[in-house]
Amino acid sequence: MSVIVFGSINMDLVARTPRIPAPGETLTGHRFETVPGGKGANQAVAVARLGIPTQMVGRIGNDAFGQALLRGLQASSVNCDAILTEATTHSGVAMITVDDASENNIVIIPGANGLIDTTDVERLQPLLAQAKVLLLQLEVPLEAVMAAAKLAKQSGVTVILDPAPARTDLPTALYPLLDIVTPNQVETSQLAGFPITDLETARKAATVLQQRGVGTVITKLGKQGALCMTPTETFEIPAFPVQAVDTVAAGDAFNGGLAAGLAAGMPLREATQQAAAVAALSVTKAGAQPSLPTRTELDAFLTKHGVTNPRADS
Ligand code: ATP
Ligand code: RIB
Repeated sequence: MSVIVFGSINMDLVARTPRIPAPGETLTGHRFETVPGGKGANQAVAVARLGIPTQMVGRIGNDAFGQALLRGLQASSVNCDAILTEATTHSGVAMITVDDASENNIVIIPGANGLIDTTDVERLQPLLAQAKVLLLQLEVPLEAVMAAAKLAKQSGVTVILDPAPARTDLPTALYPLLDIVTPNQVETSQLAGFPITDLETARKAATVLQQRGVGTVITKLGKQGALCMTPTETFEIPAFPVQAVDTVAAGDAFNGGLAAGLAAGMPLREATQQAAAVAALSVTKAGAQPSLPTRTELDAFLTKHGVTNPRADS
């Protein structure tokens, strides 16, 4: 069974700098790269590189970035038939600064991603019959995310929302449509309305989100790992010890690993551990899509860390 990703496709314009510049400051960087990214596209590539059939629904602009982004997705075996080329604006762009301490900040200019609407949800509809999991994020308009979640829920497809970038105003009607939500620490604080400082506050926030109607809450806690609260149990999945080079797209790698595991029939705990391994591998390499591991790389990493991967075949 397949995974569908409904979301954003960006070209990342990445500046490497000694530190994050202060407001009004001009800083000389070390180097510059254009790297395929976008939360939706990153998650699609993460799933597809693990060998799971993956389809992307989204929009690119009619420009050189759009063509390069499409080629990148296709090279990773993502089915791009449901990606629309938008004539009226540019492809999504993310301006990213990564400093010597691997901290980053990101400015997104949505372009074609910002025009996603219910016509894109119409392209999604016929694909749902073959799908096991729908992956959503918040880099495309919320109305379209809502409509996609509603349709997938009606079709019995597992709906996973990565509520990134952070926002406080998710409609109450969205929560009950979500089988799994995967906020990071900042997003959890924004959604719950109080700071997440430790496991105890993360647990409280997960309970709040469940009370709003979400099934399972997986809180991503950076190098502290992840806290998973299902309707029946709560467990922690520690981060794998790695040398971090660049955490851009760690969250996307995590969501891709999770969706791939669930689509292959893994139990939630094992799928979450796979997610942590995919994310750990991604932080060891620079950039968004170039940092996402293949199935072979993941298997070697899991073996090295003494994890038996209970890979279930799709
Ligand atoms: P992003 O940097 O893409 O926005 P995020 O903020 O959404 O990521 P994080 O909580 O930073 O998400 O990371 C997601 C997951 O990646 C974590 O739950 C963890 O499993 C893994 N991870 C993140 N940082 C590290 C690290 N330094 N070492 C090992 N694993 C990591
Ligand atoms: O999650 C990382 C992604 O966020 C980057 O690839 C960038 O495009 C932004 O959307």
